[in-house]
Amino acid sequence: MIILGIETSCDETSAAVVKDGKLVSNVTTAQLFHSKYGGVVPELASRAHQRRIVPAVEEALRVAGVTNRQLDAVSAVYGPGLVGAILVGLSFGKAMALGLGIPFVGVNHMEAHIFSNLIEDPKPGFPFLNLTVSGGHTQLVLVNDAFDYRILGETKDDAAGEAFDKVAKMLGIGYPGGPLIDKYAERGDPRWVNFPRPYLEEGSLEFSFSGLKTSVLYYLRRIGYQSSASRVKSINPTGYDEFLCNMCASFQAAVVDVLVHKTLLAAKRFSVKDITLAGGVAANSELRRRLMESATNVGYRVFVPKLEFCTDNGAMVAMVGYMKTKEGRTSSLELTAEPSLEL
Ligand code: KG4
Ligand code: ZN
Repeated sequence: MIILGIETSCDETSAAVVKDGKLVSNVTTAQLFHSKYGGVVPELASRAHQRRIVPAVEEALRVAGVTNRQLDAVSAVYGPGLVGAILVGLSFGKAMALGLGIPFVGVNHMEAHIFSNLIEDPKPGFPFLNLTVSGGHTQLVLVNDAFDYRILGETKDDAAGEAFDKVAKMLGIGYPGGPLIDKYAERGDPRWVNFPRPYLEEGSLEFSFSGLKTSVLYYLRRIGYQSSASRVKSINPTGYDEFLCNMCASFQAAVVDVLVHKTLLAAKRFSVKDITLAGGVAANSELRRRLMESATNVGYRVFVPKLEFCTDNGAMVAMVGYMKTKEGRTSSLELTAEPSLEL
């Protein structure tokens, strides 16, 4: 069974092919030009998807060594995300399935992130606990089985990735902020500023990062911080600015402490053996290291996807498409984009 997966929900145009449950290609182009606007510009994202979708699909088929006539189904994300961006991949996927006379499978982007842990071996066993941390979501999910989920906790305000991006903006270091903060933090002291850890009420599995973000803002105001291009530029190539590195390390440590603490709390409460990470922030080196260390120390198995499967990608979509097609869970061609789709 050969399935094509298409992802266009935000600023990555990606296509992938799964053959009998094995990933055989994954072609992703990130829209780096958004960095000059300090965030994703929805209209520009849609236009870029329009230009890139055909080359991405053709390349994914070429790398997989298959033609479109050999496909058994086409899958594409229908939410959540930016409506104009989703519509490009969704409409393209539906049209392709219609033209080829094969089934179409609509995929929930949040479900696809969880499935990024089921692409490669070794795979977690059901039930497992998944933490999805992306630009739009922070979600602890009990995965009882494929397609059987229970959301245990979510963010009440900013998503983890959003907090990374906003703090990077305050510091003036660029967009997307997550990978940059990660990089600067490598050389910084995480105890330099003791930012508050938003644990919320005792035992809560909910998250809230907006207070932490405001603490960073107040701290910067108090010390009269002015981000300047020359200061940020001084980071490379001659050496890293100590202040920025320490700020990034201190902020990142606060986020990671909370994410790891609540994940372990949920794992214990729901008696799982396996823990998985998903979403763009799962690419964070400190989060990967700390979760791996703390959870394996107390006997859990921890699974973290390869970096290319953390940020948005077609592979995770094709994997859901494959599992759904196998179970006959295909979609109507009347399926439309749902920007606020929930898991
Ligand atoms: O999953 P994703 O690609 O898109 C959404 O579905 O939102 O996640 C994007 C988010 C951005 O906020 C980005 O700053 C963050 O993931 N991110 C990171 C890292 N790499 C990407 N955050 C922290 N550390 C990283 N290394
Ligand atoms: Zn995502």
